[in-house]
Amino acid sequence: MICNPRLIRSIHTSCVQLKKVPNKAKSHSSHQWLSRQMTDPFVELAKTKNYRCRSAFKLIEINERAKILQPGQTVIDCGAAPGSWTEIAVSETNADGKQKKKPKGFVIGLDLLTIHPIEGAHLLSHADFTDTKTQDRIRELLNGRKIDCVLSDMAPNATGVRTLDQDKIMDLVHSVLQFAVLMSSENASLLVKIWDNGNVKKFEEVALRYYKSIKQIKPEASRGDSAERFLLAKEFRGLENITKSDST
Ligand SMILES: C[S@@+](CC[C@H](N)C(=O)[O-])C[C@H]1O[C@@H](n2cnc3c(N)ncnc32)[C@H](O)[C@@H]1O
Repeated sequence: MICNPRLIRSIHTSCVQLKKVPNKAKSHSSHQWLSRQMTDPFVELAKTKNYRCRSAFKLIEINERAKILQPGQTVIDCGAAPGSWTEIAVSETNADGKQKKKPKGFVIGLDLLTIHPIEGAHLLSHADFTDTKTQDRIRELLNGRKIDCVLSDMAPNATGVRTLDQDKIMDLVHSVLQFAVLMSSENASLLVKIWDNGNVKKFEEVALRYYKSIKQIKPEASRGDSAERFLLAKEFRGLENITKSDST
């Protein structure tokens, strides 16, 4: 499949999909969206740097601060479309082998939507992460490798009912944690998007059974008026150690 990266980038730079809304509301929300796009420095920067999406800067900042991506690592990117996080994961882990002297990484990106090809990445389009068939396909691709970093920028389609939407994102995050615990190498990290709400504390407590530390991060590129936050869990304790301590 021939893919023009500039075309993909121009389609996706915002990562925002306009939803079907009544005409009056649509013109108001479209206007708001357009004016936000035009004044958002990260939208422009994404175009300049040729990233598919402004979300790229969230992962870049988090990685600069926490150094979660290294050459040679195996990374899973859940909710990867249009693909800017996967692009960053590929270059940081050297999954495309462009840094000849460094170890080559392995990156899988998956999404409900189509993800256009990314050199060096294994992509699963039209794949629901919560579906066991998708998780089986990831296991097959991993072919015995353990994961060093699980990324999830997944967000469910918002219903507009706040508590319902918050429950939906927490369900996603719990399924990512469960998969990460079963598939990660010792000392691996986990980065998940959440919407700040009352259930986050409970999730942090659960995650701390498996990881030595957890912290909330609000990167610069994450819009100030959004409830979006990222939870970064580091130093996975290792499945063997966890099962050993469970049985004593
Ligand atoms: C904010 S976008 C991700 C942007 C991406 N990190 C990037 O930088 O290009 C969130 C994505 O999560 C995906 N998503 C939501 N629920 C999902 C699920 N259950 N399985 C897989 N992907 C899902 C959506 O389709 C959407 O493309």
